Amino acid sequence: MRTTRLPYVTFHEEPAEAEVVSHRLLLRGGYVKKVAGGLYDFLPLGTRVLRKIEAVIRREMDSAGAFEILMPALQPAELWQVTDRWDKYGKELFRLQDRHDRSFALGPTHEEVVTDLAKGLIRSYRQLPVTFYQIQTKFRDEMRPRFGLMRGREFVMKDAYSFARSTSEGAECYRAMQDAYFRIFSRLGLSIRMVEADTGMIGGSSSHEFMVLAPSGEDTVVFCPSCSWASNVELAGDATHCPSCQALLERTTAIEVGHVFDLGQRYSLPMEAGFLDPDGRESLYHMGCYGIGVSRLLAAAIEQSHDENGIIWPLAMAPWSLCVLPLGGKDPDLSAKADRLAELIEDRFSEETLIDDREARPGVKFADADLCGFPLQVILGERNLREDKAEVKNRKTGERHLLSVSHLTEWIGDFLGRSSALVDTMILDR
Ligand SMILES: Nc1ncnc2c1ncn2[C@@H]1O[C@H](COP(=O)(O)OP(=O)(O)O)[C@@H](O)[C@H]1O
Ligand SMILES: [Mg+2]
Ligand SMILES: [Zn+2]
Repeated sequence: MRTTRLPYVTFHEEPAEAEVVSHRLLLRGGYVKKVAGGLYDFLPLGTRVLRKIEAVIRREMDSAGAFEILMPALQPAELWQVTDRWDKYGKELFRLQDRHDRSFALGPTHEEVVTDLAKGLIRSYRQLPVTFYQIQTKFRDEMRPRFGLMRGREFVMKDAYSFARSTSEGAECYRAMQDAYFRIFSRLGLSIRMVEADTGMIGGSSSHEFMVLAPSGEDTVVFCPSCSWASNVELAGDATHCPSCQALLERTTAIEVGHVFDLGQRYSLPMEAGFLDPDGRESLYHMGCYGIGVSRLLAAAIEQSHDENGIIWPLAMAPWSLCVLPLGGKDPDLSAKADRLAELIEDRFSEETLIDDREARPGVKFADADLCGFPLQVILGERNLREDKAEVKNRKTGERHLLSVSHLTEWIGDFLGRSSALVDTMILDR
């Protein structure tokens, strides 16, 4: 892709309304645009990041054996009345009426709809266990939509639901999803803590949250610096020592990016949803539900990874891994050489290459590449090209390497390959 074809629009003044760094950088980098409170357009760069996150999630959910489905966002009130949530969910639920005065809600979550789906479809113990997931837009009339994508009124969620024959089989599904979550967040390049949490409006017997530790987080977690024990502050109470290793506990703010619930029969019981066991008796499903805040992840990643110049995307999330910067100049031969090199790189890494071919000063190109956070910058300047050299800059470490142009694509290929191999080993080591 070329910046002259793309609406590559960045802003260098600070947006007044943005209180947290991720919101500021998403606006300034041209990733999102505000439509109204808690409602955002995803611009081309933002949409690419969203698709990258979704791809990682799909890969891990599929390999955990879950099946992708798609349910309607619009849900009939009757389903919510059966579980008593039509009354209990409160003002967060966007309610509306159709032309025949029938009541509906815009789905904030899908336990009722998916339980109804399973009820008609999964009738035999032989079909269980099974897990469904979808990646879809959710609606919540939040009291305080804020911090940009962090707390929206419309946002993208991955939600999954498991159906099992027994409590113990339900617990296995729950563990499989926890495991998939660790893989997803590692692949996305995020450092997270899983904490014990409250079950809230969703209900059920146990639940864990996946937290990105960051100063601007709205949640507080209590964690042990010497082992993996961690808890949501509400559950931890006044505890000062780690229950598993006695070390002194610490507190920090965090952003909830994922949440898993063991639901037991919270939904299958009122909805009378179940299957025939081997003896031909009716039994209720043991369910679990599992959410990831897909659009919130853009914000959480930036909160965890940025500097004074802009975003520093983890490789797996960047809209493009490479930004090629032909700097232009007076010598037409060298300009032609820069163009040829840029094309060579684009041929080899097509999906991952953005070429900044604008007629702009080098300083402008550098500033925009830093702001937008592309992991690797390939700088094609006259002085280096005259000696058959080009420079690469690692956005995260700031490291620069001067390479001979004949080795350039090989070096980039190695860099991208090494980085994803590193993630694979991290996942295997867990
Ligand atoms: N208003 C919102 N805007 C963006 N993401 C949200 C919002 N509400 C929830 N999420 C994301 O969806 C995930 C699953 O939602 P859930 O646990 O039901 O939400 P909550 O904890 O806010 O009740 C959360 O972990 C969070 O990452
Ligand atoms: Mg939650
Ligand atoms: Zn400990």
